[in-house]
Amino acid sequence: SNEIDYQCWLNYEHIKDQSLLNEYAKYLKNIVINENSYIIDSIKDEIYYSINKILGISPLINNYTNSNKFITISKIGKNNLVDSFLKDEEIIAIDEEGFLIKTVNSHDKKFIIVTSKSDNGLLYGTFYLIRTLQEKKLLDDLYVLENPKTPLRMINHWDNLNGNIERGYAGKSIFYRNYELVDNLDRIRDYARLLSSVGINAISLNNVNVGKEEARLIDDKIYIVETLYEIFKRYGIKVFLSVNFASPIMIGGLKTADPLNKEVNEWWKKRANFIYDHIPEFGGFLVKADSEDQPGPYSYNRNHADGANMLAEALAPHNGLIIWRAFVYNCYQDWRDQNTDRAKAAYETFIPLDGQFLDNVIIQIKNGPMDFQVREPVNPLFGGLKKTNQILELQITQEYTGQQKHLCYLVPQWKEVLDFDTYLFGEGTSVSEIISGVPFNSKKFGIAGVSNVGDDTNWTGHTLAQANLYGYGRLTWNPELKSSQITDEWIKCTFGNNSKLLENLSNMLQNSWTIYEKYTSPLGIGWMVNPGHHYGPNVDGYEYSRWGTYHRANHFGIGVDRTLKSGTGFTRLYQQPNFEMFEHLESCPEELLLFFHHVSYIYKLKNNKTLIQHIYDTHFEGVEDVQELINQWIELEGLIDNKRYQDVLSRLLEQKEHAKEWRDVINTYFYRKTMIYDEKCRKIYP
Ligand code: GCU
Repeated sequence: SNEIDYQCWLNYEHIKDQSLLNEYAKYLKNIVINENSYIIDSIKDEIYYSINKILGISPLINNYTNSNKFITISKIGKNNLVDSFLKDEEIIAIDEEGFLIKTVNSHDKKFIIVTSKSDNGLLYGTFYLIRTLQEKKLLDDLYVLENPKTPLRMINHWDNLNGNIERGYAGKSIFYRNYELVDNLDRIRDYARLLSSVGINAISLNNVNVGKEEARLIDDKIYIVETLYEIFKRYGIKVFLSVNFASPIMIGGLKTADPLNKEVNEWWKKRANFIYDHIPEFGGFLVKADSEDQPGPYSYNRNHADGANMLAEALAPHNGLIIWRAFVYNCYQDWRDQNTDRAKAAYETFIPLDGQFLDNVIIQIKNGPMDFQVREPVNPLFGGLKKTNQILELQITQEYTGQQKHLCYLVPQWKEVLDFDTYLFGEGTSVSEIISGVPFNSKKFGIAGVSNVGDDTNWTGHTLAQANLYGYGRLTWNPELKSSQITDEWIKCTFGNNSKLLENLSNMLQNSWTIYEKYTSPLGIGWMVNPGHHYGPNVDGYEYSRWGTYHRANHFGIGVDRTLKSGTGFTRLYQQPNFEMFEHLESCPEELLLFFHHVSYIYKLKNNKTLIQHIYDTHFEGVEDVQELINQWIELEGLIDNKRYQDVLSRLLEQKEHAKEWRDVINTYFYRKTMIYDEKCRKIYP
């Protein structure tokens, strides 16, 4: 059963239904593949392994077959039989990384075509076909033509070479131990399989905070990257590295890292040549500059376009990309200063530079203007930048959302971000539209997520947090997928398709984010966590600190006035009509009320409750809802292997205790501030 947990959604459960087995076996006994490449090898491995496990038969993989039922996997133009069944409009409709799967009838033959223009596309098509089996769907009339909607579909690792993971909640790094590569490379290969099965095509291999040892990854420690590259390239995944902007000083022995200095330029160019000598298809650099004490162009009175473009010039001859993070703000703010607003920082830094970045620079923007809180508005940089390549950055690892001890399925949160209409080019310019690159006519757009995996057997600490990794990947492929579809797929592939299981588990997942939100900080205010590790309630933990993260609660009200009329003016950074919507108390979405407005505790919400009563109610309800999660899980005993059943149960019980702590700390804080009673007279500590 450990094995099941380890394989996640690729555990390929054996089918017991004999008639379905017979149906499948007709097609799957014979697989025709008549090409060779390292990605094709991965395809062969995966199709063989999955059919073996799902059907219990060993398929014949050959470059032809005499059988009249079979599967054929080949690129367009590589197999006459396949080509003769492709229509011109199909060939046009398939993008570089897309695929077509269709069942074809001809004379005595009935077979399934998986085809594409690239090896990557074939790999994605193969995984799609395998998922069809996992979902126990029939093969007789397949017709699927899919293209990824987002060009760059990336995972960011915050792993350090010593094996620790910044904000990691599932054990140690699966890559590094004691400043070297781990011994278990098979596990890394399995990780690559998991990622490519959901369409991921890029990965950054080390923490954005780049220390002394990690800086050496582009120097004498490049052999580590080479080995990882060899693994990931077989699954169509490009490798990137986070680099320290001060590398010329740290490892080059130069006196400066000034981006306009000739020697510095030359140094980076030589570095680039060196890297590409070792890693011919290297993706590029991810850079956190002038952010939280990381060095950057500001030290030399240069701006972020100077910094990014200098690196971009070094990588351009090799087609490398510079992914430059927008997470730039003053982390030495004085809490007494009420004019500075951290939420405005990224916008104010990057909007003046719009249009100045070279074509191989991409700005990576966190979903919200602060930092991965349970709820934030969309970062107004999306909707601001018109002439700059952009990547959306999400956090799969649950730093502020329960650290993989609490169940918090983030797909519904991400969907809200992706669906948000920025009105950049008028109505209909959603975040997912922007990151498709289509409105900009560019392929240098995409989405990145901070990984939630570690070396725990189940990869993610909480078994159900595997759903966040799966869901993230599926959304990178198609941000328009419905949350319910993604959830069902994940459950079926991971646990099987018992109907009770599907019902309870999808309820649990789909509601878990709002449940977590209920018992933690209210209405978009965020940050009521213990400083440093960010786990557990501490209402004033960040109130008098330097981080620019305040709630401004007093006896009468709470919230940050970010309006143009009387506050920091953050609302003005949005396009119309979003500006008006956020600016006014009446039209501001209530779940974000305290993010945008300072509100009296006796302000009446739309449901006619006062703000204070809403805080009490949601906190009591949140804990009851966790009990409901437990009840739903308990009903699944026996439908799930005992190991995973017990693991999840123990996390849920821990979540409940911790939710009570949240409830009581928050309610007590606000009761003491306001001296307003709970209308329902529940227990609050006076
Ligand atoms: C958060 C997180 C840090 C991380 C930073 C970043 O603030 O707490 O650990 O380094 O984000 O995204 O760079």
